[in-house]
Amino acid sequence: MIIHLRMKQKIIIILFLVSGFFNQVKAQDSLRLYLGQIPDKYFGTSVADASNEAFFQTMYNLPGRTYTKRIIYNFNALTAGNEMKFYAIHPQPDGFALDNGDKLCDFGEQHGLHPRGHTLVWHAQLPSWLGAGNTGYENNNEYTRDSLLSILKHHITTIVSHYKGRIKEWDVVNEPFEGDGSLRKSIWQQVIGDDYIDSAFVWAHQADPDATLVLNEYGAEPWGTSKSNGMYNKIKSLVENGIPVHAAGFQCHATLGQSNFTMIKNNMERYHEIGVSCVITELDIRIPANQMGTQAAWDAQASDYVNYVKLMTETDYCHGIVVWGFTDKYSWIPAHTNYTAGEACLFNDLLNPKPAYYAIENYLKTYLGYDDIKQELKHKPFELITKYNELYIHLLDPGFKIKQTTLYNVMGQVVDAITNEQIVETNYTLNHLHSGIYIAIITDENNKNYATRFFKQ
Ligand code: XIL
Repeated sequence: MIIHLRMKQKIIIILFLVSGFFNQVKAQDSLRLYLGQIPDKYFGTSVADASNEAFFQTMYNLPGRTYTKRIIYNFNALTAGNEMKFYAIHPQPDGFALDNGDKLCDFGEQHGLHPRGHTLVWHAQLPSWLGAGNTGYENNNEYTRDSLLSILKHHITTIVSHYKGRIKEWDVVNEPFEGDGSLRKSIWQQVIGDDYIDSAFVWAHQADPDATLVLNEYGAEPWGTSKSNGMYNKIKSLVENGIPVHAAGFQCHATLGQSNFTMIKNNMERYHEIGVSCVITELDIRIPANQMGTQAAWDAQASDYVNYVKLMTETDYCHGIVVWGFTDKYSWIPAHTNYTAGEACLFNDLLNPKPAYYAIENYLKTYLGYDDIKQELKHKPFELITKYNELYIHLLDPGFKIKQTTLYNVMGQVVDAITNEQIVETNYTLNHLHSGIYIAIITDENNKNYATRFFKQ
């Protein structure tokens, strides 16, 4: 009886240890594992205070929190949802509020995400002191061309200089077009004239000559519509006049099943031909309310998301994607559409990945030539073991031959390449690495890659 109990206890302990061990080596989903390895392209998300668990309050912004963890594991670029808009960053004529932008940069630098600047000149979300009314079309302070130009110059120069070298890409002018492709009659266009756009780009460039400068617009994504032609013709003429505009920003606030990817690609191609890059700045794909909560809609959304990612990975035309919020919990879409649509993001409102997330992950695995990690875990020929400052590979299949193990940081930069002997026969010391998450890509003798992630304490 006693022996029997001891046996039972032993079995329980062994089971406990084994399950603990498998938990430890289980690969977690991480888009960054793949996206980090696509050179010169980024995949980001927007974050905002009011909606997103007080992202900009450092006390909430701890890497252990699910919200923050999702950002760090999956994205390598970051846009402030509201905090760098005119009303927020320049709330008084002579008063700037640069703290939140600083926090965006600090967080980015700490976790290897590129902060994007959004946005310098727009008709919406202006401070009341500017007197542009609710529409942003009024001129209640009766500014002249010169007085408004000097406000704009002060605004752009102060902000871009402050973040010089830290923010490498700016949405300089946002939504300057009407649906017919003409210039929107904002306070900027009415009081200054069409060349407010030229001035904005020139001042941004003077303040930071290395920054990538974007003209950003919504609903001008597919080739050949009045709006997209208006935007293209404007950018082309700016370029011809030597104005430093470097990229066309496509917001891509899409509706399920409505994106014409061939036409978007064609549009990107004509920018490419005039030396202007494209960037998807605010991607979300809303599901009409009557289709929400259905597998069919989520699957269709997954295929749309993958097609957007392909615009970036499979062309030279598009250098980045930012999703406008990553979780349905805080998405702007339900309120914006008066609750006629929603479920627009990659994660649901419990912050769990949706079919679109897994579809992007699977697409990237195939694109980069990796095996499915979950499959590999079932039949994997090795175990990666980390203990304190050491890394060790235990071969489960003695015939498995490792050619090389490459270690990446979460920014996708190679931090070390290790030979077989170093890591299989001896413990490999990690002392030279900072604490954090790393990705080991193990290449076998047939050049097959196995990706796994580990944490260095
Ligand atoms: C949205 C924010 O997400 C909301 O929180 C805010 O109430 C309104 O603005 N195009 C843009 C973004 O360029 O700045 C907008 O962001 C969405 C549309």
